[in-house]
Amino acid sequence: MRTTDIVTLCMNPALDITTSTAVVRPTEKLRCAGVRYNPGGGGINVAHVAEVLGASSMAVFPAGGPAGELVHRLLVAEGLALHRVSIGGSTRESFTVNETSTSGQYRFVLPGPELTVAEQAECLLQLRRAAESATFVVASGSLPPGVPEDFYQRVATACSELGVKFFLDTSGGGLTHVDSGVFLLKPSVRELRECLGLELRSEAEQLAAARELVARGVAECVLVSLGSQGALLVTAEEAHRFAQVDVPPGSGVGAGDAMVAGVAVGLTRGWPLTEAVRLGVAAGAAMLLTPGSAPCTREDAERLFAQTAPPVTVR
Ligand SMILES: Nc1ncnc2c1ncn2[C@@H]1O[C@H](COP(=O)(O)OP(=O)(O)OP(=O)(O)O)[C@@H](O)[C@H]1O
Ligand SMILES: [Mg+2]
Repeated sequence: MRTTDIVTLCMNPALDITTSTAVVRPTEKLRCAGVRYNPGGGGINVAHVAEVLGASSMAVFPAGGPAGELVHRLLVAEGLALHRVSIGGSTRESFTVNETSTSGQYRFVLPGPELTVAEQAECLLQLRRAAESATFVVASGSLPPGVPEDFYQRVATACSELGVKFFLDTSGGGLTHVDSGVFLLKPSVRELRECLGLELRSEAEQLAAARELVARGVAECVLVSLGSQGALLVTAEEAHRFAQVDVPPGSGVGAGDAMVAGVAVGLTRGWPLTEAVRLGVAAGAAMLLTPGSAPCTREDAERLFAQTAPPVTVR
C-alpha cells in the first residue's frame, strides 16, 4: 500500500545560515545581525514545499557532525517525517549574507562531506525501503564528494524496479550520468545547456534538446525551467510552453525545488500533467514572495495557481 505521497532524497543537505550586514568588504570584521538557521538542500526543500501544499512527504538524507545534528533537530521540531542516515563526516554549511545597503546577497556554499561506500549503500537502502510505500520519489540537489556520478541512475533503476515514478532535479555529472528510468527530469535551462554542451539560445533549440533526452529514453517528461520566463514541458507525445506568473522581484532561491514539489503534489491530487505543471509554475513563483529559501505559503501558491495561464502547445 502507498502510504506516503512523496519521498524525497537529499544526498547533500546543508545547514543554511542566513545573516545580514550593512556592507560586505574585505579585511574588516563584518558585524552581522539576526542570524537564522534553517535545514536546507534540494530534497529537504522539496519535502517542505510538498507538506506546505498538503501532501504527505518524507525526506531521506545522510547527516553527520554538528551541522548535521542541527539539521536533524530542526526538521524533527518542524514535524517533517524523515529518515536520517548517520554519517562520519560533517554535513556542510551554506552561509548567506544579505547586504542591507544594496539588497545584494552573498552566498557561500561549502563542499559536502565525503560519504563512504557503506554510507552511500545505506542511503540507497533506506530510500528503497521508503519508496516501497511512496507514490513518487523525488531526488533533488548535488551529490557530495565520494559519491559516484551514476548514483542517481542507481536510484532511478531502484524506482523502476519498485514501480514508483521518479523525479530528478540535479546538475553536472549527476545529470549527465543518468540514461534511463526517470519519469520527470527538471533541468533549468542553464543545467540543460551544461548537460548537452549547447548554447540553447532559442526556444526551438531548447525544445529540441528536451526532445532529445526523451528520445534517448532518459526521461518520460522533461520540464525545462526558464526562471522568470516560465517553463517548457516535453513528453514523447507533445510539448507545451507555460508562461510565468508575474511576481515582484525577490529571492528565487529554491524556486526549482518548489516547482518540482508543485508538480508532484498536483499529480498526487490526480490532476493531468499539464495542470500539475501549472501548480509547479505557481509554487516556483510563490518562492519569490518569501525570504531566502524559506518555503512558500500554500495561500500564495494557490492564489498564483489561479493566475497561471493555460499552457500553449508548441511544435
Ligand atoms: N522571477 C520569477 N518570476 C516568476 N516565476 C519564477 C521566477 N523565478 C522562478 N520562477 C518560477 O520557478 C520555476 C523554477 O525557477 P528556475 O528556472 O530559476 O529554477 P531553479 O531550479 O531554481 O534554477 P537553478 O537550479 O538553475 O538555480 C520557473 O520555471 C518559474 O516558473
Ligand atoms: Mg534547480
